[in-house]
Amino acid sequence: MLQRILPVIACTVLAAQSFAQPASLKTTFRNDFLIGAAINTRQIEERDTTAARLIPAQFNALTPENIMKAEIIHPQWDQYNFDLSDKLVDYARKQGIKVNAHNLIWHSQLPGYVRRIKDADSLRSWFAGHISTVAARYDGKVYSWDVVNEALNEDGTMRSSVFLKMLGDDFVVEAFRLAQKAAPHTKLYYNDYNIEQPKKRAGAIALIKKIQAAGVRIDGVGIQGHWRAANVPMKDIEESIRAFSALGIEVMFTELDLGVLPNPWDNTTADVGRTAAYKADMNPYPGGLPDSVERTQADAYAALFRLFLKYSGKVSRITFWGVDDSGSWLNDWPIRGRTNYPLLFDRHGQPKRSFFSVIGTKNATAGY
Ligand code: XIL
Repeated sequence: MLQRILPVIACTVLAAQSFAQPASLKTTFRNDFLIGAAINTRQIEERDTTAARLIPAQFNALTPENIMKAEIIHPQWDQYNFDLSDKLVDYARKQGIKVNAHNLIWHSQLPGYVRRIKDADSLRSWFAGHISTVAARYDGKVYSWDVVNEALNEDGTMRSSVFLKMLGDDFVVEAFRLAQKAAPHTKLYYNDYNIEQPKKRAGAIALIKKIQAAGVRIDGVGIQGHWRAANVPMKDIEESIRAFSALGIEVMFTELDLGVLPNPWDNTTADVGRTAAYKADMNPYPGGLPDSVERTQADAYAALFRLFLKYSGKVSRITFWGVDDSGSWLNDWPIRGRTNYPLLFDRHGQPKRSFFSVIGTKNATAGY
């Protein structure tokens, strides 16, 4: 008798297992917004086996973490390096994933020869050539561009970058004008950190209105979202979704991660130029995350996704700045060599409590 029943039990267990697909972010939120991840060179080249498994299963949007920045894609005045960007575009096409190209104009990660330019005419000609060449090459192949990244100060005034100093404060409008011409089939976005904060948000709104008043196309705004798990500015975020979408553009969260490590400064910033020295007490969890911190992060992610869902008609994409905790830039910024845990997948690519809390905002039975 037992011999006859055992195979039946075995089959039932197997059937139940194959039925229980692991949860997927992109499937869970398919009617709400795109779910993206920033990816690095190893991941584009499919050498990272964890990412090669997670990316197609979990994400329907990708942002290159570094390889489309000017210092890599345009290393010499008359030389472009499209190898990795072409690979990314091919990989995404094969997987049916949208690419948000990042970025055309940013004061950071500029090649040395651009930083050494001394006259406005040369910089203007680099600026026009760079935008036209790079944006045209990927028009219709990438879904969207971060045309200008981080042009604002915390008080909402324009950041004193090489572009502002030499080209004047119309450089943002000009960048969008050139991108619109070179990439008519690509969405065009402004991207920055802390623009959920009232003063900087007001500066971003003024900038977007200025682009619109010039008759130039801007399709959306990216709020980076490098926040701290214990202190997510929920009210500012909600006000920002309302205020930016009132301008008739998409709102996106483009570089989301919720760090759990101590901050070397009082204020929060994602300014890549600001760094601090390593101290052991700044790296409290090298061996693993305490349960209470894990819970704080899971709750913060859940609160955020509940808010994103409330505004799913206005929020078009949520992109995490990395695939799993091992590859997060927050392990090395603002202090090198720390162990941070900001994303939804752990160092082995396994879903964390925060992953289940995010899925649970849509599917109340998921629990965490
Ligand atoms: C970061 C990358 O993640 C790092 O690998 C690199 O060393 C520095 O830049 N805001 C942005 C991103 O718009 O391009 C930055 O990415 C993080 C802050």
